[in-house]
Amino acid sequence: MAAAPAIQLEGVTKRYPGVVANNDVELTVASGEVHAVVGENGAGKSTLMKIIYGMVRPDEGIITIDGAQANFRTPKDAIDAGIGMVHQHFMLADNLTVLENVILGSEPRSGVKIDFEGASERIRILGDTYGLRLQPNQRVEKLSVGERQRVEIIKVLYRGAQILILDEPTAVLVPQEVNELFDSIRDLREEGHTIIFISHKLDEVLSIADRITVMRDGQTVGTTTPSEVDARQLAEMMIGSELPSPETKESTVQNEVLLDVSDLALLSDEGRPVLDDITFVVRKGEIVGIAGVEGNGQAQLIDSLLGLAPTSTGSITLAGKSMDDLETRERRAAGIGLIPEDRHRQGLLLPSPLWENAALGHQYKEPYANGIWIDKKGTREHTAEIVRRFDVAAPNVDVPAAALSGGNQQKLVVGRELMANPTVLLAAQPTRGIDIGAQAEVWEELKRARAAGMGILLISADLDELIGLSDTIHVLFEGKLVAKLDPSEITPEILGSYMTGAGEKKAS
Ligand SMILES: Nc1ncnc2c1ncn2[C@@H]1O[C@H](COP(=O)(O)OP(=O)(O)OP(=O)(O)O)[C@@H](O)[C@H]1O
Ligand SMILES: [Mg+2]
Repeated sequence: MAAAPAIQLEGVTKRYPGVVANNDVELTVASGEVHAVVGENGAGKSTLMKIIYGMVRPDEGIITIDGAQANFRTPKDAIDAGIGMVHQHFMLADNLTVLENVILGSEPRSGVKIDFEGASERIRILGDTYGLRLQPNQRVEKLSVGERQRVEIIKVLYRGAQILILDEPTAVLVPQEVNELFDSIRDLREEGHTIIFISHKLDEVLSIADRITVMRDGQTVGTTTPSEVDARQLAEMMIGSELPSPETKESTVQNEVLLDVSDLALLSDEGRPVLDDITFVVRKGEIVGIAGVEGNGQAQLIDSLLGLAPTSTGSITLAGKSMDDLETRERRAAGIGLIPEDRHRQGLLLPSPLWENAALGHQYKEPYANGIWIDKKGTREHTAEIVRRFDVAAPNVDVPAAALSGGNQQKLVVGRELMANPTVLLAAQPTRGIDIGAQAEVWEELKRARAAGMGILLISADLDELIGLSDTIHVLFEGKLVAKLDPSEITPEILGSYMTGAGEKKAS
């Protein structure tokens, strides 16, 4: 007799006010396979995973785990049944260390004391085994998004999960890190683990999955295998129609310098240089890309430009005006827009309605304010326009941001910042977590803004995006700009080699 499926869902339905997030879903995940779940933003993937993980209770349906019917009330029940989940948005305690976060809720005992040393050793071994290296004693608030994710994965492995649910784990990783993660996923499969993998990057899905289930509008529309479909066919299954083709680009770069950054340096709290000798310009109508493996100073560069991190030397000029003595709010008002890397920590107030979120960071000016008063009507109308233009799937502008799917939250932030029409937009991972159809739309909007004269600093882990959009690419490596490249002359592989420092010597 064949082993029972690791997971079997029958007729699973979950309704939210105004939307059926999961509609009569059927899903069978075989034991020991890597099963990908794909679908457009809002298709219902995360909701389904939360149901399997006991975080969300379905209105209807039967869930069977390893042949036994499950009725999870909380994630703890799911964890006890051997299920672990790494969420699309991380759930770590910032003020604790890596070690404390990993063991939280499953503290190892040695007699009556917590065995920190043993735990620390296990984290190191797990990290080495699965290519998820971490320093156990570092505080999570100091970690980049990529590093936070490693903590989440280690945490799940640490609890000995047999079934791992990874909701968009690669969205925050650069290619080398994706390869490392895939190696560890293959190792896990080798040892008999079952993995559910969600991603909007269909080439990744095709390279790692044994089987792929496609979701559309809350339903599962079919299950296929990588040998049966290519990325384009998969995308067409997702959207239920044909894909648009990309078009060629023309330069819109003008001479006028909008952002002039000269000789910027920043020291860490420990006195280590985290940015050094950063010099570059962004011209009118130009997209300047910053390539780099996460953690090489990208976050600090954004913070420095916004005045959130005090630089020790250097100057920043926006359209001829020095920013050096201005506070963050004044810099934003002077025309610096921001699409933050982490929409939850910096971009949104999750419990607040969309219309408040649409005003966030811009609430003191039109159309959000009328003198000193909040213009609620203007704000709501403007929010509805963002929702329309950026195709944010939302029942209305009064629902909390938390009720939007991950990709739709991202679209709201991108729309808010682009429609504020800044002089220079700092765009960090602007298409992270959004589906390929919506990604193409955001690219179009960025190009349209560029053509209208906006200067854009693009920080992205998506090398195709960087090469496809940028007019110039700088490589940030260990806090320094080590190469300036012409995107029309490079490939993702060449760019990747510069990012790891290997291409450094060839740079002029
Ligand atoms: N807590 C909630 N309250 C109300 N509606 C919700 C809630 N969670 C999800 N939804 C809605 O359910 C639908 C499915 O959302 P879900 O997060 O499952 O999509 P997804 O496939 O994971 O999308 P993405 O690729 O953007 O992450 C969306 O329309 C979303 O707005
Ligand atoms: Mg999701």
